[in-house]
Amino acid sequence: MKIALGADHGGFELKEKIKVHLFKKGYEILDLGTNSTSSVDYPRFGHAVGYAVSNKNVDYGIVICGTGIGISIAANKIPGVRAALCTNTTMARLTREHNDANVLALGARIIGDVLAFEMVDIFLTTNFEGGRHSSRVNSIETI
Ligand code: RB5
Repeated sequence: MKIALGADHGGFELKEKIKVHLFKKGYEILDLGTNSTSSVDYPRFGHAVGYAVSNKNVDYGIVICGTGIGISIAANKIPGVRAALCTNTTMARLTREHNDANVLALGARIIGDVLAFEMVDIFLTTNFEGGRHSSRVNSIETI
């Protein structure tokens, strides 16, 4: 499974840790930056990950900024992207089961590393439930 990672300066350090975490588990990584703690604008990285997901270059994306808010808003501008900002493991599970989210958004200044790893693992291993959720998700795409 191939995962695109993107972060601004606020999310850079957590991105690097998640990259190591995923690499150890055998995931293929597409790192779309940023590559340092120097200040950058988060929309660029939300768009880059969103396009990689939308174009099916990767299976899922993970975007990280200080709060996770700005970069999730940016990723969600790309058609076909369903980016979910999650702050706990229940949200990470339910957004896969109910929303078929294809991008996980995290706030590096909001959550700790261990929780982030747990949410990433749950997000990447939980299946969409389909059923009654399918028409709702399809409705999003028609907006
Ligand atoms: C950068 O200072 C910060 O605004 C950004 O990382 C993010 O939190 C925006 O939503």
